[in-house]
Amino acid sequence: MKESFALIGPGRVGQAVARLLVEAGYPLLALVSRDETRARQAARFAGCPQAASTDLQRATAARLIMLAVPDDQLRPLAARLHRLGLQPGTLLIHFSGFHPADILLTDAEQQLQALAIHPLQTFADAVMGTHNLPGSPCSVEGSPEALSRGEELVEALGGIPFRLRGEQKALYHAAACVLSNNLVANTRAACEIFAACGFEREQAFELLKPLLSGTLRSLTTLGPDLALTGPLSRGDIQTVTAHLDALAKLPDDLQQIYRVLGRKAVQIGLERGSLDKKTAGMLSRLLAPPD
Ligand SMILES: NC(=O)c1ccc[n+]([C@@H]2O[C@H](COP(=O)([O-])OP(=O)(O)OC[C@H]3O[C@@H](n4cnc5c(N)ncnc54)[C@H](OP(=O)(O)O)[C@@H]3O)[C@@H](O)[C@H]2O)c1
Repeated sequence: MKESFALIGPGRVGQAVARLLVEAGYPLLALVSRDETRARQAARFAGCPQAASTDLQRATAARLIMLAVPDDQLRPLAARLHRLGLQPGTLLIHFSGFHPADILLTDAEQQLQALAIHPLQTFADAVMGTHNLPGSPCSVEGSPEALSRGEELVEALGGIPFRLRGEQKALYHAAACVLSNNLVANTRAACEIFAACGFEREQAFELLKPLLSGTLRSLTTLGPDLALTGPLSRGDIQTVTAHLDALAKLPDDLQQIYRVLGRKAVQIGLERGSLDKKTAGMLSRLLAPPD
């Protein structure tokens, strides 16, 4: 018999997790939102309409209580749950990649356990999350005696569990953000630069999309060192100089992005041998922050 669960915060991650766990046969006792309509919609999405609730107390009956709320709300929400009273043996779970699991525990309460399960995946909305999570690595960190329960849950979600220690989380999470969030921001920057030569930003994105998916295909197949192409990887100094001149007319952040990531590309080119030391040095000086 699978353990019952409650989920608080039916946002992007919460709804996807609730639906996947219900599909895996975990009984959903309560899906708690601060708003009645959202609770009903989310419970329907999870396939368990009777679980909809705005009453936090209902969550305390479950063996597994999942807090899928913004990171800054984890500690205050956990404190509210402790005040309501939790049964011994309850396992509290959050999904932040940064905070350690014990943010959910109080010193006074020794009989509870906590886990942080972080899907190394992006959830732009609940539906995308439901499709993206299966097959994704998920870190599991927290009370040692609860780690295997966390791994079981990850497997029920279709994820691939791996263990992480609390002190690793800041850099681990920063890496995930540099990859996913900065890729999105970088794509937006590319659209702005493209639009500046006379296109609508939406049209620029449509035209850039095949380049984005082609880059991701070679990146995931070959890895970052071999996937790099372009003037920086070839040492085309005149082209890079012309880019910087053109970018100088645009908002400063766009040129800064070009310079910072360009220096990383030069490092790759040098390390894999497509750039010699002299050319790499000239490019690095060209891309250095302007005085
Ligand atoms: N999105 C991602 O790509 C992603 C990936 C991995 C991990 N995570 C982690 O997953 C957790 C949830 O993130 P999310 O992106 O799903 O967030 P989200 O879409 O913003 O959803 C959070 C939900 O929490 C509830 N909430 C908001 N403020 C609250 C408050 N003050 N008190 C109580 N409930 C509140 C809201 O539900 P109601 O308004 O209905 O109450 C909201 O839908 C975070 O710990 C995040 O770090 C996110």
